[in-house]
Amino acid sequence: MQLSSSKRKTFLSFQPPAIGPEEIAAVTETLESGWLTTGPRAEELERRLAELTGARHALAVASGTAAMHLSLVGLGLGPGDEVITTPITWPATANVIVHTGAKPVFVDVRDSDLNIDPDLVAAAVNEKTKATLPVDLAGQPADLDPLVALGLPVVEDAAHAVEARYRGRRIGSIARATCLSLYATKNVAAGEGGAITTDDDALAEEVRELRLMRRSHGSLYDVRTAGFKANLSDVLAAIALCQLDKIDAHAEIRRRHVEAYDAAVADLAGITPLARDPRDRHALHLYIVRIDPEDAGADRDAYQRALAEENIGTSIHFLPVHTLTYYREHFPNQPSLPVAERAGGEVLSLPLSPAHSDEDIADAVDALRRVHARFAS
Ligand SMILES: Cc1ncc(COP(=O)(O)O)c(C=O)c1O
Repeated sequence: MQLSSSKRKTFLSFQPPAIGPEEIAAVTETLESGWLTTGPRAEELERRLAELTGARHALAVASGTAAMHLSLVGLGLGPGDEVITTPITWPATANVIVHTGAKPVFVDVRDSDLNIDPDLVAAAVNEKTKATLPVDLAGQPADLDPLVALGLPVVEDAAHAVEARYRGRRIGSIARATCLSLYATKNVAAGEGGAITTDDDALAEEVRELRLMRRSHGSLYDVRTAGFKANLSDVLAAIALCQLDKIDAHAEIRRRHVEAYDAAVADLAGITPLARDPRDRHALHLYIVRIDPEDAGADRDAYQRALAEENIGTSIHFLPVHTLTYYREHFPNQPSLPVAERAGGEVLSLPLSPAHSDEDIADAVDALRRVHARFAS
């Protein structure tokens, strides 16, 4: 294979936002409308997300983290309870369990896609287990059916997976609560924001109250619980609505980029993308490869540094949460999770955004080939 020798001239950001004139106009219009906080655009976003997912309720909130936190609080989780979750996630997934007073119990992931292993979840359930919290890593839905079959509420961290389908079904109402993120890098990016979708009327009612600390009684008000402030601003909802209009166009661009990566890494010994289950629709949020230092000639950290020197930005999704300082100090008896711990040292996410051009991705591929030729020869 011919290797191009020229390094990219400017730094390629890992996941730049794909913001166009539509989003800018929508923000201006919202500011001119006088609605800065939650208003008609947040409500429209909820209608659109319910339509997209097929769920009975969609509740817009301030972040994906808030979506998970309010779902757990709304389900009544608290001190003395345990929630089983995955170590291969952003720490927010575990932090929200801690914030309810419950204990996060980490079980290992599958080697193929690094999603939580349902057999290990089943083995970890005890009388204190009150929910499971799987993650749809990179956009690959977690294996939801066996988790739902356990009879415990499933709160799904679908921050990466807004457009995913699991065995032909849209995510959004398979789990008891499906938690979306509108963070700057996500497939529907508002900068910040999140949403909960659910078919559970009682949970939707709880979350509606918890997110805005309010229950109206005509012109008076009352509080039943010490609620939160986690509603979504209309300014952000306006951006999210534009992004929803582009969801198919953006998915098509990401699909093309993923194809280019798949073709490239097929030739690179020791660099393997995470498995994508052909029975599902993957949301293609991240392109994560694992770097086996034996076959690839160097470890993940060396590859990341070498790619940065080539002006290619990358990221790590994720370091195992149970190995991070807070969790080591507060949950010291956590058994080792060998698959997650090995993967934590091998995963590297390559640039992937609808804002990237085909040439950007070709630059990333060329750089990866050059680095690989240097390390693996
Ligand atoms: C897997 C995962 N869960 C949860 C979150 C938190 O979402 P947010 O940033 O909207 O709070 C993120 C990332 O941002 C994430 O990657």
